[in-house]
Amino acid sequence: MPFRVLVIDDDPDTRENLWDILELDGYAVESVGSAAETFVDREWARYGAILLDRRLPDASAESILPRLRTLAPDAAVMIVTGYADVQSAIVALRYGAADYIVKPIDPGELRTRLARIAEQQRVRQELQVSNRAREQALADLQVKTEELQATTQQLWQAARLAGVGELAASIAHELNNPLGTVHLRLESVLAKTAADDPRRHSLEVVDQEVERMARLVANLLLFSRPGRDQVSTVRVPSEVIKTIELTEHHLRRRGIEVHPEFHPAVPDIFADRQQLRQVFLNLFTNAGDAMPRGGTLIPRVNPGVLDSGRPAVMIEIVDTGVGIAPEHLHCVTEPFFSTKDEGKGTGLGLAICRRIVEQHHGTLEIESTLGRGTTVRIVLPVRNGENVDELMTEGSES
Ligand SMILES: Nc1ncnc2c1ncn2[C@@H]1O[C@H](COP(=O)(O)OP(=O)(O)OP(=O)(O)O)[C@@H](O)[C@H]1O
Ligand SMILES: [Mg+2]
Repeated sequence: MPFRVLVIDDDPDTRENLWDILELDGYAVESVGSAAETFVDREWARYGAILLDRRLPDASAESILPRLRTLAPDAAVMIVTGYADVQSAIVALRYGAADYIVKPIDPGELRTRLARIAEQQRVRQELQVSNRAREQALADLQVKTEELQATTQQLWQAARLAGVGELAASIAHELNNPLGTVHLRLESVLAKTAADDPRRHSLEVVDQEVERMARLVANLLLFSRPGRDQVSTVRVPSEVIKTIELTEHHLRRRGIEVHPEFHPAVPDIFADRQQLRQVFLNLFTNAGDAMPRGGTLIPRVNPGVLDSGRPAVMIEIVDTGVGIAPEHLHCVTEPFFSTKDEGKGTGLGLAICRRIVEQHHGTLEIESTLGRGTTVRIVLPVRNGENVDELMTEGSES
């Protein structure tokens, strides 16, 4: 875009003179003879400079300068003045003029001054561009900072999990032996106690409580167990069926019907069979607990893909149970989160599931509607080199 100059001068000779010099130098020129002619509807943003006569017939430079500056804030205004008026031209500088030039105009002088103005303008524009770039960079930085904060949050979460894992492992190991002893002793005492002995009930209560502690310890050990030691080819539907068989009695007692839906062409995956069974068992147990008065449990297995595009197997455990309250949905996979009665749930079931799924580089998500039911969806990558390698290395490290 050419540098455009607006000449405002009532003297036709000056106008023509300026026009000649400017055109020759490659400037685009427009000229007007009065203030009235100046302030018509124009595209003010086009002007790089305005050459303004100090004394127009209908106005002085000072009086129209503020308006010009407002209309064309980016244009540099240069006052054109006679010798006699130099003082007032200097005054005009205070009203926002950028420069002044004395008549008769020396073409060389004008060239130098305009070139300087053009250069200033260019620098200003560049500055604006770089300012914008800086603002953009700042905005990007802001986004990155937020991402970093989110990641930090996740890391804290991971660290917390790891901490829980270590603590759990040490406590569980410590508790395992004394619990075993108590259990054995109790069994023998119970065996020696007559069925109608009034103390028998108390002993049975103690026995149940010990069993509950043993279950908690077993879960804690599972949670902290590095695992992944038994990686092999796994047929997911078969594993699901095995888990159904294991829990069938428990489910049937509650009037729960199980309707498996297996796609006929589910690919095998590379995984730790034992751990997968653990996942399914936890999910089935949760579903069973969610349907105390019966319902339907649908274990569904289909071919799928992970977000990364990697082929995968999608396992959905759908129940028609009580559902999860929306405000609990985000924390049900946290270790020790449980809504179950004191002593019923350790709150580790889903945390274990999530950990196992993550170790297999899969994803676990939960959808739930209160009073309607819950779907736990697990996507596990199909057997592939990467998956296996990572599982192996992680397993052998620990
Ligand atoms: N299928 C489900 N339907 C409704 N609520 C569920 C379901 N699965 C999990 N929940 C909710 O999530 C909580 C956490 O589940 P999680 O399996 O981790 O622990 P838990 O079942 O309470 O105890 P644990 O499994 O250790 O014995 C449960 O207490 C329950 O409130
Ligand atoms: Mg559970």
